[in-house]
Amino acid sequence: MGELQHLFDSNREWVKEITTSDPDFFKRLAKQQKPEILWIGCSDSRVPANQIINMLPGEVFVHRNIANQVVYGDVNCQSVIQFAVEVLKVKHIIVCGHYGCGGVIASVEQQAEGVMAGWLEHIKSVYDENQRELVQERDKEKMIDRLCELNVASQVKNLCQAEPVIHAWNTGQPLKVHGWIYNIGDGLLRDLDISVTGL
Ligand code: CO
Repeated sequence: MGELQHLFDSNREWVKEITTSDPDFFKRLAKQQKPEILWIGCSDSRVPANQIINMLPGEVFVHRNIANQVVYGDVNCQSVIQFAVEVLKVKHIIVCGHYGCGGVIASVEQQAEGVMAGWLEHIKSVYDENQRELVQERDKEKMIDRLCELNVASQVKNLCQAEPVIHAWNTGQPLKVHGWIYNIGDGLLRDLDISVTGL
């Protein structure tokens, strides 16, 4: 028995649970995926996209990285956006950050080294752009949480500059970009009210 046997066991249990109520679930899913949502979130293990919005396999296309960033030169994220918009024709892209994000904290405290340091530089620039507001906040935790929100707003802005998104808007393809934040402490999502529907 393998070291990770319990994962195979819970996989079998999960399949049984789903097929008990819907015997053709996987057969249907194997034919195609037609998600209407692209989720761009943090890799943090406490922020699992599907579970948070209570969605089944097939309902949400997901990209996750440290601190939910949409970086122009990141071919991984940019390919996900291209595929989601051009092929899947998702109707919504949600950038979802979360309070107390370790990546955001590390960028402020400049703890990261190596490739991580480079990755977190982008958040450092969000901090720099908003420094005047952020230094007013004496409570460190609150300052970080505000930076988590500002980071989402900045990534939404980056997303609106992505070529496939601009092309979709130019050609009248319905597509809405949203900025949300998740609270690990109570499991609740909040809309930051910065949605963008077009150019
Ligand atoms: Co995070």
